[in-house]
Amino acid sequence: MEESEAWGKPVERTGRLTAVLALATLISAFGSSFQYGYNVAAVNSPAPFMQQFYNNTYLERYNEPMEENLLTLLWSLSVSMYPLGGFFGSLMVAPLVNKLGRKGTLLFNNIFSIVPAVMMGVSETAESYEIIIVARFIVGICAGLSSNVVPMYLGELSPKNLRGAIGIVPQLFITIGILAAQVLGIRSILGNSTGWTLMLGLTGIPAVIELLLLPFFPESPRYLLIQKGDETNSKKALQRLRGWDDVDAEMMEMRLEDQSERAEGHLTVLSLLSQRSLRWQLISVVIMNMGQQLSGVNAIYYYADSIYASAGVRQNDIQYVTVGTGAVNVFMTVAAVFIVESSGRRLLLLLGFGICCGACVLLTIALTFQESVTWMPYVSIACVIVYVIGHAIGASPIPNVVTTEMFRQSARPAAFMVGGSVHWLSNFTVGLVFPFMERGLGSYSFIVFAVVCLVALIYIWLVVPETKNKTFLEVSQMFAKRNKTEIKVSDWPLKDSTESLEKVTTL
Ligand SMILES: *[C@@H]1O[C@H](CO)[C@@H](O)[C@H](O)[C@H]1NC(C)=O
Repeated sequence: MEESEAWGKPVERTGRLTAVLALATLISAFGSSFQYGYNVAAVNSPAPFMQQFYNNTYLERYNEPMEENLLTLLWSLSVSMYPLGGFFGSLMVAPLVNKLGRKGTLLFNNIFSIVPAVMMGVSETAESYEIIIVARFIVGICAGLSSNVVPMYLGELSPKNLRGAIGIVPQLFITIGILAAQVLGIRSILGNSTGWTLMLGLTGIPAVIELLLLPFFPESPRYLLIQKGDETNSKKALQRLRGWDDVDAEMMEMRLEDQSERAEGHLTVLSLLSQRSLRWQLISVVIMNMGQQLSGVNAIYYYADSIYASAGVRQNDIQYVTVGTGAVNVFMTVAAVFIVESSGRRLLLLLGFGICCGACVLLTIALTFQESVTWMPYVSIACVIVYVIGHAIGASPIPNVVTTEMFRQSARPAAFMVGGSVHWLSNFTVGLVFPFMERGLGSYSFIVFAVVCLVALIYIWLVVPETKNKTFLEVSQMFAKRNKTEIKVSDWPLKDSTESLEKVTTL
């Protein structure tokens, strides 16, 4: 999703966070990334009222109550059409960003938010649950596009020295969106039998705000120059973003980068799959994205309320525990930004998956004994919170960072597309399967998630190297033996490459 620091090489003049840059960042992250998070959690707290609406609608149409299995199926569909739409959205990224531009795509993408927002808003009046299911698919497309285009747009707006920090803003707004949905989902606010349509429809508000405000901000200068060949407007955009007139150096640099990229050529997904020298890097991207989603993080968000209920939290207190969890998630995402540069990626991944695995095992035990031991429900809640912490520092943010660092410029878009597709398909699978798993296995469903975390942990331990401060060549050298390829000596700028590698490892 994120493609921060994708365009290498430092620039001489240190970029400032100008008002134009800051506002463009906030508006696009609020208008797009926020919605991604909001819709992940928006159906969580009104779930019982929505299911009741499904049941009542069916009763009025066919004069008999809905079968429990059908209700579970329709509900699973309502939840999982969202990530399925996300999958299709991420496939649409490449053609759209090149045709409409980055800002253009973000503006266009608002159709996929405002239309379903209206649909979900009128679903109750129209007495149709089918509308909700279709709307969830469309708003999923919106999320799939946002999750790739916002980081791309912001990455291309930022000066290099701010690219890392600004690159985290979309992820931060996703967690803020989740928190906002949890707050609005409180029973006395909108999480009730009359408020849920408004709650689902509210996703259109950020879209409208973005549609009204973003047109006043510049399109990506890099897109204008390289894709459009529009030197004048590219320069104007850059001048507004940087807050100074002398942007010739940066313009020149963009042209140079473009040339070297053209010389390297772009790898398509197919040619990426057939590259032996990138095989294990690609497998690692797939495993990390599967691990991230199949470890059950969205099961926790989609079904948090029922998890707390089965953990024995009193019905009225559930909503506050949910909001607390969301706040912890936001806080830990902010913390991850500061930890990641000092601790390295590998340690955070191992720690994150390890914590999640342990939390799942403990949660299973706690749920099993909650009838007989009075304080067990508190242990269950602690497990969920510890799980969220583990996910927020490792499994959630790090796979994209590592993906960026394992592939060079020419292979990166293809690698991100593979990662993005695996991300949304795994997300889809969990949403569809978890309700059935929960009904069949009860508290033992968390053992499945624990096993996934353990497998991811072992894989990362054995295969994924530390990529912090490594050049692409050093990373491919670390993978060379596993890929059964040789790195040609002429590829290496340094004679004593192994030595410099060891030096970096011990940093
Ligand atoms: C649907 O509603 C009826 C009453 O209106 C209820 O008896 C039945 O259990 C409900 N079905 C499900 C699957 O919740």
